Amino acid sequence: MSNWKNIMLEQEEGWALLTLSRPKVLNALSRELLDELNEAVDWVEKTDSIRVLILTGDGEKAFVAGADISEFTQIEHAGQAEELAIKGQTLFNRIENLPKPVIMAVNGYALGGGCELALCGDIILASEHARFGQPEINLGIIPGYGGTQRLARVVGKNMAKYLCMTGEMLTAAEAHRLGLVQKVLPASELLNEAKSLAKQLSQKAPLAIQWIKKSIQNGLDIDLKTGLQLEASYFGLCFDTEDRIEGVNAFLEKRPPRFKGK
Ligand code: CAA
Repeated sequence: MSNWKNIMLEQEEGWALLTLSRPKVLNALSRELLDELNEAVDWVEKTDSIRVLILTGDGEKAFVAGADISEFTQIEHAGQAEELAIKGQTLFNRIENLPKPVIMAVNGYALGGGCELALCGDIILASEHARFGQPEINLGIIPGYGGTQRLARVVGKNMAKYLCMTGEMLTAAEAHRLGLVQKVLPASELLNEAKSLAKQLSQKAPLAIQWIKKSIQNGLDIDLKTGLQLEASYFGLCFDTEDRIEGVNAFLEKRPPRFKGK
């Protein structure tokens, strides 16, 4: 943890904030940064006291301006590029499927791999000057860390094609209208709002939160009938938890619940 060169960690009871930090290159995702982020995700996953993860970018200009383009010159053939895409996709899948809520606090440019990373969050908060886009086309390539797939699932097929083919950027307000972003905030309020949302989510029943995430995430990849069965089975599992007893008792006793994740 202390050895990370490209990630800063802040933590409080219930949540951790990871700040991706290569500000001179707008926090571009080098291979080294991807490896460190993988380690950070391992740590978040196994640390029970961390119930919510926030990701943001260092500085006022960028969340993440994409994969580190300077590393592309070392790629000699298709196989090496595919390997890089799979490396990024494997990490991004882990973030999307982390059994804890992930809040993306998008503080500036979220381009290419940066937009793809934001798309792996459960909730995207954006500062007013945030910009989202898949500009890979301008480099003669296509998105490689999930952009063509996740963007289409959020904004629809034709809008995803439009954005990937033109490389045009969306403003935070446009991204909000399209459902990509859940809240747009003044830059000065972004992190406070992310932290207060993280605190709020960290006090909810962790297993129920996890099953909401799984039910929605996995449900989108299957037909409605199977998705409803999945929901019913997770609904069932909730009734075997101590937190369900605590939640219902707290309501009946007119007091706030204290959930333990059991
Ligand atoms: N990789 C490496 N370096 C980058 C970078 C990136 N993705 N984005 C920005 N930088 C560097 C710039 O080269 C520049 O470095 P120097 O100071 O040494 O010249 C520094 O960051 C500041 O950037 P700019 O001077 O370009 O800043 P600007 O305000 O003029 O423009 C920008 C900002 C519009 C975001 C512009 O930097 C830009 O277009 N960046 C590239 C965005 C991009 O194409 N992203 C996709 C990458 S490919 C990808 O992500 C593939 C995938 O799906 C995995």
